[in-house]
Amino acid sequence: MSPALRTIGVVGVGQMGRGIAQVAAQSGFGVLLHDENRGALDAALAHIGDQLERQVQKGKLVPAARSEILARLSPAADAGAFASADFVIEAVSESQPLKARLFESLDATCRPGVILASNTSSISITRLASATRRPSLVIGMHFMNPVPVMELVEIVAGQSTSAETIETTRGLAKSLGKTSVLAQDYPGFISNRVLMPMINEAIFALYEGVGGRDDIDTVMRLGMRHPMGPLALADFIGLDTCLAILEILHAGFGDPKYRPCPLLRRMVDAGLLGRKSGRGFYDYDAGGAPA
Ligand code: CAA
Repeated sequence: MSPALRTIGVVGVGQMGRGIAQVAAQSGFGVLLHDENRGALDAALAHIGDQLERQVQKGKLVPAARSEILARLSPAADAGAFASADFVIEAVSESQPLKARLFESLDATCRPGVILASNTSSISITRLASATRRPSLVIGMHFMNPVPVMELVEIVAGQSTSAETIETTRGLAKSLGKTSVLAQDYPGFISNRVLMPMINEAIFALYEGVGGRDDIDTVMRLGMRHPMGPLALADFIGLDTCLAILEILHAGFGDPKYRPCPLLRRMVDAGLLGRKSGRGFYDYDAGGAPA
């Protein structure tokens, strides 16, 4: 654990926020967990309890450790509780106005010197920083899904992020058992600058009939050893999220190579969003497993 950091605040308890909270509690940190939606907070705690129970069943965790980890998680009905946080990670949905408002209010609540990190996959850290009076302490901390499994954290330095903030954040990522890389604050950072054009190209290949769904995914799984084919991965990430990130790349660089495939747009318009909606390029059961 980073010596000076004991309590991590996590705002937003969707898929990413709850994963970050679980990993932080498992790494020995106290975790303050806040979400505007009280029901979502309860659901997140239940989900983390289930995930830890699965580890107990697999013999990877002793039951007493599960209880200790759960005891480190404190739901906070009010974001004011973040006054006692030593480091805050924001993981609310990908809306710039929403995140900017949240950063403004975290800036007012958190102690001076506390770093405010965003798990954003594509929103400008520099813009979020400018909503605060502590831009040197604002940074991107982009975790990958599923957070407990994926080893990477992409650290994103905004225009004013200080070297000390970067160092502390990399230290925290290490304490969470992750390997960090440093990216500069340009559209898509490193991860989505490289990943999304690949996914988009796979969708173009399907759209143009170069190959069928299974052919395209099998090429990348067996030919390139990717754990999932790009179409399955797009479903896993969410087709709406893929489209939103491609729009940011397209608008940010003004380069037609990032134009989203019309098939992706049409699927999002139809509500076929991938795992979370039960259907995307593949069909899923109610638990999110491929049908
Ligand atoms: N939460 C916690 N643990 C999970 C999990 C989840 N949601 N899903 C799987 N796991 C664990 C399983 O419990 C299992 O653990 P053990 O080895 O300890 O038993 C392990 O992961 C492997 O799981 P499975 O055997 O069920 O399945 P798998 O081998 O097919 O792996 C996968 C599943 C880890 C998701 C794998 O398919 C994979 O790595 N896929 C690629 C994921 C990826 O690319 N993620 C990045 C997406 S991009 C992103 O997040 C950023 C962005 O900005 C868009």
